[in-house]
Amino acid sequence: MATNIKIGVINVSDRASKGIYEDIPGKAVVSTLNEYLVSEWTPVYQVIPDEQDQLEAAFKKMADSEGCCLIVTTGGTGPAKRDVTPEATEAVCQKMMPGFGELMRQESLKYVPTAILSRQTAGIRNRTLIVNLPGKPKAIRECLDAVFPAIPYCIDLIE
Ligand code: MTE
Repeated sequence: MATNIKIGVINVSDRASKGIYEDIPGKAVVSTLNEYLVSEWTPVYQVIPDEQDQLEAAFKKMADSEGCCLIVTTGGTGPAKRDVTPEATEAVCQKMMPGFGELMRQESLKYVPTAILSRQTAGIRNRTLIVNLPGKPKAIRECLDAVFPAIPYCIDLIE
């Protein structure tokens, strides 16, 4: 992974986007990534409602215009009608990376039986890796701990 990279962080939440909830998950993604990343990085940050078209537009902007090598989403991966983060991810990616979701669910099952409710996935849009995390702040660390070792290697392979 190069230095001074840009990483997109998207909290997908109807309530946080309206200011009803504080954006704790988005901040948790930034602080957890800070612990893993040794080199300098710049977060490109957004809070978006559970709207597939808005999410796809944010992915395209962050990947194609802002040059983010990684985009991490939090929220919108469950079974509810408005949960559309995996669909938006799949719609903008040329290649899916199902191993990320499989490993995150497997590790998450050690903490909560409801881990099977997350449809979290990952995929590649051009030179950008997109990884979905569930919306609960504690799930962010549980999932990133599992897959982070593969992330810089994956980004190097698609550069
Ligand atoms: N994974 C971990 N590691 N920890 C959790 O607490 N919560 C589960 C699941 N995965 C959870 C987890 C629950 S309760 C749900 S409904 C799904 O993630 C989807 O969450 P989301 O819709 O906020 O993305």
